[in-house]
Amino acid sequence: MANDNADSLIIGLAGLGTVGGGLVTLLQSNRDIIERRCGKKIVLKRVLVHNLQKKRHVTLASGTEVTDDLTRLTDDPEIDAIVEVIGGQTTAQTLIDRALDHGKHIVTANKALLAERGLPLFAKAKEKNRILRYEASVAGAIPIVQALKDSLASNHIHSLLGILNGTSNYVLSQMTADNLDFATALQQAQDKGYAEADPSLDIDGFDSAHKLILLIRLAFGVHYDFSKLPIQGIRNLSAMDIRLANQLGYHIKLIGSAKAAGKSDHEIEAGVFPALVSHSFLLARVEGAFNAIHIKADAAGSLFFHGRGAGDLPTASAVLADLLAVAREEYPNNTGFALDLPKAEIFPEAESSSCYYMRLMVDDAPGVLRDIAGCMAAEGISMSHVMQRTQDGFSEVPLVLMTHETTECAMQKAKQAISAKLHPREMVSFKVLA
Ligand SMILES: NC(=O)c1ccc[n+]([C@@H]2O[C@H](COP(=O)([O-])OP(=O)(O)OC[C@H]3O[C@@H](n4cnc5c(N)ncnc54)[C@H](OP(=O)(O)O)[C@@H]3O)[C@@H](O)[C@H]2O)c1
Repeated sequence: MANDNADSLIIGLAGLGTVGGGLVTLLQSNRDIIERRCGKKIVLKRVLVHNLQKKRHVTLASGTEVTDDLTRLTDDPEIDAIVEVIGGQTTAQTLIDRALDHGKHIVTANKALLAERGLPLFAKAKEKNRILRYEASVAGAIPIVQALKDSLASNHIHSLLGILNGTSNYVLSQMTADNLDFATALQQAQDKGYAEADPSLDIDGFDSAHKLILLIRLAFGVHYDFSKLPIQGIRNLSAMDIRLANQLGYHIKLIGSAKAAGKSDHEIEAGVFPALVSHSFLLARVEGAFNAIHIKADAAGSLFFHGRGAGDLPTASAVLADLLAVAREEYPNNTGFALDLPKAEIFPEAESSSCYYMRLMVDDAPGVLRDIAGCMAAEGISMSHVMQRTQDGFSEVPLVLMTHETTECAMQKAKQAISAKLHPREMVSFKVLA
């Protein structure tokens, strides 16, 4: 029987882990403000879990049923909306697809699914005239989806830079503050519950990349193919580079970056990579497990969003805001654009330009610097800064160069020439953000 009670929104919750549990808590503790804001009760009818025997940290209301059969949510005519917080892609996709077929509205926090397999779901939601909201899938509690979709809708977005993964940022913050190597900082993050036992999705940049794909859609109105996005994580970052960068006035952060490349409306230069960020830029001061996004828009100017990117209540706050929007029956505008999204034209990574930090471990011999400068000059690269200073705790003396703006292609060629001529024991480079 369909829900024809206009005073309530009946929901099915798929997943009762961190986010699902947070949502149940928030629905109970903030019942008063929810009803005042949307004029309806939100009634949790049924919860989907994987393991019916697992002990739960939250107490469900007496009428709420727990099931391990997803069709009990998708096919129930009384349920108006489904919250998908099971994660993963295959079951979540089946659940959302089937729920849309049965006329449900959807709220999800699943960035991996939306980034890699989202387009058919958006198409189906549009075809069925259903709401598909996903505020919690990018940067947890930070209302960035709403900001790009609605508040900044009249702007052309020039660029966005984000710290989009709290685990990586926590590890980098610990490496910076306590001069730790990567493995020790990661172990500390795991001990404190900030990193999963298998942290690869976070530290190898894929979680940031999923969020960046969603941000590109929202900011530029194009679909950037996930498999084409350049992605580099923080696994190979050394304590020495973090310390040297700090001495030069920078913190190293894992950045998700996207900008309009300028040749056409659809051409996007994007990637996820560790970069040097000047101490004077707000992004450098984003510490621990926090997320932040800096946006440059033509009319609104420069905007900075900062907040908790994960955790039960911060994420549930975003999920619940989406549910309130569903309860208010806001008209579906799921992608933020009226027309179907065209494919992004991908700006070639080799042509992207930046200033660079480069560190080499080379013999401290006459002529070495001249040879390096020669290799750089041959590619048209000029240097803004050279530093060679003994580092406490490190036996070798690193040579650090900072360049003026150049292209990725020129840097790669210069590095190949330096390798061939000087055989450095180690050579790393990072982009430097203005
Ligand atoms: N955690 C965060 O802070 C955060 C922040 C932003 C976005 N997200 C996103 O939110 C989603 C959920 O994350 P989470 O941290 O809450 O995950 P989680 O703690 O692992 O919880 C997942 C829940 O889904 C259930 N589940 C998993 N696979 C299932 C299946 N095949 N069938 C039925 N139930 C299934 C699990 O059941 P059992 O309990 O029975 O095992 C569990 O209750 C993910 O997409 C994640 O990327 C999370």
